[in-house]
Amino acid sequence: VFHVKQNFETLVRAYAGALDLFGPAVLKDWAVHENAARRYAERLPEGVRLLDVGSGGGLPGVVIAAERPDVHVVLCERRQRRAAFLRLAVARLGLGNAEVFAGDVRDFRECVGWISAQAVADLPTLVALVQHAVPDRWHLLTRRPNTWYPPGDLMNYDVELEREALDDRHDLVVLTLTARGAAR
Ligand SMILES: C[S@@+](CC[C@H](N)C(=O)[O-])C[C@H]1O[C@@H](n2cnc3c(N)ncnc32)[C@H](O)[C@@H]1O
Repeated sequence: VFHVKQNFETLVRAYAGALDLFGPAVLKDWAVHENAARRYAERLPEGVRLLDVGSGGGLPGVVIAAERPDVHVVLCERRQRRAAFLRLAVARLGLGNAEVFAGDVRDFRECVGWISAQAVADLPTLVALVQHAVPDRWHLLTRRPNTWYPPGDLMNYDVELEREALDDRHDLVVLTLTARGAAR
């Protein structure tokens, strides 16, 4: 049997309507959104484990997994139709480095040093959601308006921040969070 390797955009367009994956604005500018997801992939060190929280229809997690075979990606999504699509995408795209956690991230029971999350929650909420699943020092990749700054006090963490422009309104933000009192 001849196996045709499908591309992600084809899959998204085939299922987006029926499975409520993305809004019309994202579908209209798909290439822009897929390119933004590639920028997350470029920021990851060799061989890390990444948890993509609230993967939705696969941004940025599926694109990261496709771009970075050395990185193990867990796609976490609690909405079951979206999680089913993520499973299908992992299989059809042949992503041996990706798996799907179809549930609430609060029930995810592994420890992961790198987290990505796009359009999921504000920063304090996000930190609270993943706090049980991260080591003392961990990294978060997310998209924020370029006018955004992190809160001065983020729970029990010291925060280092790097940012780069994704477009004229949004930055890709890479936060390194170190629990106060933890050895560096
Ligand atoms: C606005 S969508 C963004 C999806 C995708 N990251 C993107 O940028 O297109 C937010 C997604 O996060 C999921 N989500 C929100 N809270 C979650 C949680 N606690 N655990 C797992 N998934 C969650 C929602 O079900 C939804 O699919």
